[in-house]
Amino acid sequence: MPDMAKKSVGRDQERRPQKVAMDGTILAQEQVAAGVYRIELQLPSLSALAAPGQFVQLRLLDGAHLLRRPLGIAERSPLRGSVTLFYRVVGSGTQALARLKKGATVHVLGPLGHGFSTTYARPLLVGGGMGLSPLLSCAQAQRGACDVLMGGKTEGELFWRPYYEPYVKGSFFTTDDGSFGTKGFVTTLLPGVLEHGDYDAVLVCGPEIMMRGVAKIAQAHGLPCEVSLERRMACGLGACLSCSIDTTSGERRKVCKDGPVFRAEEVFS
Ligand code: FES
Repeated sequence: MPDMAKKSVGRDQERRPQKVAMDGTILAQEQVAAGVYRIELQLPSLSALAAPGQFVQLRLLDGAHLLRRPLGIAERSPLRGSVTLFYRVVGSGTQALARLKKGATVHVLGPLGHGFSTTYARPLLVGGGMGLSPLLSCAQAQRGACDVLMGGKTEGELFWRPYYEPYVKGSFFTTDDGSFGTKGFVTTLLPGVLEHGDYDAVLVCGPEIMMRGVAKIAQAHGLPCEVSLERRMACGLGACLSCSIDTTSGERRKVCKDGPVFRAEEVFS
């Protein structure tokens, strides 16, 4: 059984606390599914610094949308000096972002937070919904070492498949309606996947109810599990306390600064 106690989330990121605040030019933007967009931004310094599971705070420069929006870093290309993000259109800010064309600029602060550990040799990535965005950065960083188990309501929600394909060794799919892969939830398939696999960790991101279920199953299989939490954020820097959570030890932690990735046992009882 892997040494759960000694693994610390994102410990390899302790040596890289730097972040940058800069305007990034849009290199490409496309709609990839209903209400979901993929955007590539030219951000050379950020691309060099970012680690799997970290996020950025993105702000429009139109003067009308002053709030920053936290978005997980999905891919980075130090060669192109770019990072790629996925986002769902949920309000006027993301609508305005979706209207921006190649060549426009946005303001970006990052990379922020502590991401997933990259010290596991054979992690299983488990994701649902937009949670598959930050997990993609793990698949990219550990090219060929990870398998992915992704779940969605319908086949249309598994639009992530071609993005994962170049990076993962094996893939498993579930849909609520059975339109692709196994009918059911990721937790339906997970016990069998773990039983037959050679994994040394489970890294998960998605709806909290899903992450809790996955964490329980991982624990039953004696595997360390890391979860990426989502909370409403304002500063993204640990200053405003708007993303504070209670941990199982009773300590208050900030999702933006101490997370967003935590060991499952730190945050789920
Ligand atoms: Fe301000 Fe986390 S968003 S402390």
